[in-house]
Amino acid sequence: MTLNQQPNDFFHWIAPYYDTLIHLLTFGGYQSFLRKAVKILAPQKGEKILDLCSGTGKVASWISSAVGEEGRVMGMDITQSMIDVAKERYKGLANVIFVKKDVTQPWAYQDHFDGIFTSFSIHELQEKYRAGVIERSYAALKGDGRIVIADFHPQPSGMAKIISLIFFQLFERRNLSFFSFPQNETLRKAGFRRVRTFPVLGGIFQITLAQR
Ligand SMILES: C[S@@+](CC[C@H](N)C(=O)[O-])C[C@H]1O[C@@H](n2cnc3c(N)ncnc32)[C@H](O)[C@@H]1O
Repeated sequence: MTLNQQPNDFFHWIAPYYDTLIHLLTFGGYQSFLRKAVKILAPQKGEKILDLCSGTGKVASWISSAVGEEGRVMGMDITQSMIDVAKERYKGLANVIFVKKDVTQPWAYQDHFDGIFTSFSIHELQEKYRAGVIERSYAALKGDGRIVIADFHPQPSGMAKIISLIFFQLFERRNLSFFSFPQNETLRKAGFRRVRTFPVLGGIFQITLAQR
Protein backbone atom coordinates (compact mmCIF):
# COMPACT_ATOMS: atom_id res chain seq x y z
CA MET A 1 0.00 0.00 0.00
CA THR A 2 1.43 3.41 -0.93
CA LEU A 3 -0.81 5.50 1.28
CA ASN A 4 1.05 7.99 3.43
CA GLN A 5 -1.59 8.04 6.16
CA GLN A 6 -2.36 4.47 7.14
CA PRO A 7 -6.07 3.63 7.51
CA ASN A 8 -7.13 3.03 11.07
CA ASP A 9 -8.18 -0.61 11.67
CA PHE A 10 -10.73 0.56 14.22
CA PHE A 11 -12.73 2.33 11.49
CA HIS A 12 -12.44 -0.74 9.28
CA TRP A 13 -14.21 -3.14 11.62
CA ILE A 14 -16.53 -0.67 13.30
CA ALA A 15 -18.01 0.77 10.07
CA PRO A 16 -21.37 -1.10 10.07
CA TYR A 17 -21.97 -0.28 13.77
CA TYR A 18 -20.27 3.14 13.94
CA ASP A 19 -23.36 5.37 13.89
CA THR A 20 -25.34 3.26 16.38
CA LEU A 21 -22.39 2.96 18.75
CA ILE A 22 -21.60 6.68 18.78
CA HIS A 23 -25.30 7.53 19.04
CA LEU A 24 -25.64 5.36 22.15
CA LEU A 25 -22.37 6.48 23.72
CA THR A 26 -23.24 10.16 23.33
CA PHE A 27 -26.97 9.80 24.09
CA GLY A 28 -27.75 11.26 20.68
CA GLY A 29 -25.44 14.23 21.21
CA TYR A 30 -23.19 13.35 18.25
CA GLN A 31 -26.08 13.59 15.84
CA SER A 32 -27.28 16.95 17.18
CA PHE A 33 -23.73 18.32 17.03
CA LEU A 34 -23.40 17.28 13.39
CA ARG A 35 -26.86 18.71 12.56
CA LYS A 36 -25.79 22.01 14.09
CA ALA A 37 -22.58 22.01 12.01
CA VAL A 38 -24.52 21.30 8.79
CA LYS A 39 -26.83 24.21 9.66
CA ILE A 40 -23.75 26.45 9.88
CA LEU A 41 -22.55 25.18 6.48
CA ALA A 42 -26.05 26.03 5.18
CA PRO A 43 -25.94 24.00 1.95
CA GLN A 44 -28.11 25.53 -0.78
CA LYS A 45 -29.99 24.05 -3.73
CA GLY A 46 -27.68 23.30 -6.65
CA GLU A 47 -24.42 23.49 -4.68
CA LYS A 48 -21.50 21.07 -4.91
CA ILE A 49 -20.37 19.97 -1.45
CA LEU A 50 -17.48 17.77 -0.37
CA ASP A 51 -17.76 15.76 2.84
CA LEU A 52 -14.14 15.18 3.74
CA CYS A 53 -13.60 11.92 5.67
CA SER A 54 -17.26 11.11 5.27
CA GLY A 55 -17.34 7.92 7.36
CA THR A 56 -20.65 6.07 6.95
CA GLY A 57 -22.05 8.88 4.77
CA LYS A 58 -24.74 10.06 7.18
CA VAL A 59 -23.91 13.75 6.88
CA ALA A 60 -23.48 13.46 3.10
CA SER A 61 -27.02 12.07 2.96
CA TRP A 62 -28.39 15.05 4.90
CA ILE A 63 -26.54 17.47 2.65
CA SER A 64 -27.86 15.58 -0.37
CA SER A 65 -31.44 16.57 0.41
CA ALA A 66 -30.41 20.18 1.07
CA VAL A 67 -28.65 20.62 -2.30
CA GLY A 68 -31.44 18.87 -4.19
CA GLU A 69 -31.41 17.18 -7.58
CA GLU A 70 -29.29 19.87 -9.20
CA GLY A 71 -26.68 19.73 -6.46
CA ARG A 72 -23.89 17.21 -5.92
CA VAL A 73 -22.29 15.72 -2.82
CA MET A 74 -19.03 13.82 -2.75
CA GLY A 75 -17.95 11.82 0.30
CA MET A 76 -14.23 11.00 0.55
CA ASP A 77 -12.82 8.51 3.01
CA ILE A 78 -9.72 6.35 3.29
CA THR A 79 -11.46 3.33 4.87
CA GLN A 80 -12.92 0.91 2.33
CA SER A 81 -15.54 -0.50 4.73
CA MET A 82 -16.78 3.04 5.55
CA ILE A 83 -17.15 3.67 1.81
CA ASP A 84 -18.93 0.31 1.35
CA VAL A 85 -21.39 1.05 4.17
CA ALA A 86 -22.07 4.56 2.80
CA LYS A 87 -22.59 3.28 -0.76
CA GLU A 88 -24.97 0.56 0.40
CA ARG A 89 -26.99 2.80 2.74
CA TYR A 90 -27.36 5.69 0.33
CA LYS A 91 -27.43 3.95 -3.03
CA GLY A 92 -30.85 5.50 -3.65
CA LEU A 93 -29.45 9.04 -3.61
CA ALA A 94 -28.65 10.01 -7.19
CA ASN A 95 -26.74 13.18 -6.30
CA VAL A 96 -24.20 11.60 -3.91
CA ILE A 97 -21.01 9.67 -4.65
CA PHE A 98 -18.54 8.14 -2.24
CA VAL A 99 -14.88 7.89 -3.19
CA LYS A 100 -12.12 5.99 -1.41
CA LYS A 101 -9.29 8.46 -1.02
CA ASP A 102 -6.51 9.37 1.36
CA VAL A 103 -7.15 13.09 1.79
CA THR A 104 -3.54 13.71 2.79
CA GLN A 105 -2.57 12.97 -0.81
CA PRO A 106 -3.07 15.45 -3.70
CA TRP A 107 -6.65 15.87 -4.92
CA ALA A 108 -7.68 16.55 -8.49
CA TYR A 109 -10.11 19.32 -7.50
CA GLN A 110 -9.42 23.02 -8.00
CA ASP A 111 -12.01 25.78 -7.77
CA HIS A 112 -14.70 23.08 -7.76
CA PHE A 113 -16.79 22.93 -4.56
CA ASP A 114 -19.12 25.54 -3.06
CA GLY A 115 -18.58 24.08 0.37
CA ILE A 116 -16.52 21.54 2.29
CA PHE A 117 -17.73 19.84 5.44
CA THR A 118 -15.56 17.76 7.71
CA SER A 119 -16.42 16.25 11.07
CA PHE A 120 -14.12 14.54 13.56
CA SER A 121 -11.44 14.08 10.93
CA ILE A 122 -8.83 16.83 11.34
CA HIS A 123 -7.83 15.47 14.77
CA GLU A 124 -7.48 12.00 13.19
CA LEU A 125 -4.83 13.13 10.70
CA GLN A 126 -1.15 12.90 11.48
CA GLU A 127 0.21 16.25 12.60
CA LYS A 128 2.36 16.71 9.49
CA TYR A 129 -0.66 16.43 7.18
CA ARG A 130 -3.21 18.71 8.85
CA ALA A 131 -2.07 21.99 7.30
CA GLY A 132 -1.78 20.39 3.85
CA VAL A 133 -5.38 19.16 4.00
CA ILE A 134 -6.55 22.68 4.88
CA GLU A 135 -4.51 24.14 2.00
CA ARG A 136 -5.95 21.55 -0.39
CA SER A 137 -9.46 22.38 0.82
CA TYR A 138 -8.84 26.04 0.10
CA ALA A 139 -7.71 25.23 -3.45
CA ALA A 140 -10.66 22.90 -4.07
CA LEU A 141 -13.18 25.58 -3.11
CA LYS A 142 -14.65 28.09 -5.53
CA GLY A 143 -13.79 31.76 -4.96
CA ASP A 144 -16.60 32.35 -2.47
CA GLY A 145 -16.61 28.86 -0.96
CA ARG A 146 -16.58 27.98 2.71
CA ILE A 147 -15.41 25.15 4.93
CA VAL A 148 -16.99 23.89 8.12
CA ILE A 149 -14.84 21.90 10.53
CA ALA A 150 -16.71 20.15 13.35
CA ASP A 151 -14.35 18.51 15.80
CA PHE A 152 -12.92 18.60 19.28
CA HIS A 153 -11.82 22.09 20.31
CA PRO A 154 -8.11 22.23 19.40
CA GLN A 155 -7.36 24.70 22.22
CA PRO A 156 -9.75 23.83 25.06
CA SER A 157 -9.43 25.57 28.39
CA GLY A 158 -10.44 24.99 32.01
CA MET A 159 -12.59 21.93 32.65
CA ALA A 160 -12.99 21.28 28.90
CA LYS A 161 -9.20 20.89 28.64
CA ILE A 162 -9.10 18.39 31.50
CA ILE A 163 -11.97 16.33 30.03
CA SER A 164 -10.50 16.40 26.51
CA LEU A 165 -7.01 15.42 27.67
CA ILE A 166 -8.33 12.52 29.75
CA PHE A 167 -10.44 11.34 26.80
CA PHE A 168 -7.48 11.53 24.39
CA GLN A 169 -5.12 9.85 26.87
CA LEU A 170 -7.56 6.95 27.15
CA PHE A 171 -8.85 6.57 23.59
CA GLU A 172 -6.94 8.80 21.15
CA ARG A 173 -3.38 8.96 22.44
CA ARG A 174 -1.91 8.91 18.96
CA ASN A 175 -3.84 12.12 18.16
CA LEU A 176 -2.76 14.18 21.18
CA SER A 177 -0.82 16.51 18.85
CA PHE A 178 -4.21 17.93 17.83
CA PHE A 179 -4.11 20.11 20.94
CA SER A 180 -1.12 21.99 19.61
CA PHE A 181 -2.61 22.42 16.15
CA PRO A 182 -3.06 26.15 15.45
CA GLN A 183 -6.21 25.61 13.40
CA ASN A 184 -7.35 29.22 12.98
CA GLU A 185 -3.88 30.46 12.03
CA THR A 186 -3.54 27.58 9.56
CA LEU A 187 -6.87 28.49 7.96
CA ARG A 188 -5.81 32.13 7.62
CA LYS A 189 -2.38 31.17 6.29
CA ALA A 190 -4.06 28.97 3.67
CA GLY A 191 -5.98 32.06 2.51
CA PHE A 192 -9.33 31.86 4.31
CA ARG A 193 -10.39 35.41 5.12
CA ARG A 194 -13.12 35.14 7.71
CA VAL A 195 -12.82 32.49 10.41
CA ARG A 196 -15.60 32.14 12.98
CA THR A 197 -15.70 29.60 15.78
CA PHE A 198 -18.64 28.24 17.76
CA PRO A 199 -17.74 26.38 20.97
CA VAL A 200 -20.05 23.51 21.88
CA LEU A 201 -20.57 21.67 25.19
CA GLY A 202 -18.53 24.01 27.34
CA GLY A 203 -15.76 24.24 24.74
CA ILE A 204 -14.98 20.51 24.49
CA PHE A 205 -16.07 20.67 20.86
CA GLN A 206 -15.94 23.41 18.29
CA ILE A 207 -17.54 24.19 14.96
CA THR A 208 -15.42 26.40 12.72
CA LEU A 209 -16.71 28.26 9.68
CA ALA A 210 -14.08 29.72 7.37
CA GLN A 211 -14.87 31.70 4.23
CA ARG A 212 -12.62 31.98 1.20
C1 LIG B 1 -14.15 9.74 13.55
S1 LIG B 1 -14.56 9.23 11.93
C2 LIG B 1 -15.71 10.51 11.46
C3 LIG B 1 -16.57 10.12 10.31
C4 LIG B 1 -17.65 11.14 9.94
N1 LIG B 1 -17.05 12.36 9.45
C5 LIG B 1 -18.55 11.41 11.12
O1 LIG B 1 -18.47 12.49 11.70
O2 LIG B 1 -19.34 10.52 11.48
C6 LIG B 1 -13.09 9.69 11.02
C7 LIG B 1 -13.13 9.24 9.58
O3 LIG B 1 -11.96 9.79 8.94
C8 LIG B 1 -11.48 8.83 8.03
N2 LIG B 1 -10.08 9.15 7.74
C9 LIG B 1 -9.04 9.17 8.61
N3 LIG B 1 -7.90 9.51 7.98
C10 LIG B 1 -8.24 9.73 6.68
C11 LIG B 1 -7.49 10.09 5.52
N4 LIG B 1 -6.17 10.31 5.58
N5 LIG B 1 -8.15 10.24 4.35
C12 LIG B 1 -9.49 10.02 4.28
N6 LIG B 1 -10.23 9.65 5.34
C13 LIG B 1 -9.62 9.51 6.53
C14 LIG B 1 -11.71 7.50 8.73
O4 LIG B 1 -11.71 6.43 7.83
C15 LIG B 1 -13.06 7.72 9.38
O5 LIG B 1 -14.11 7.32 8.55
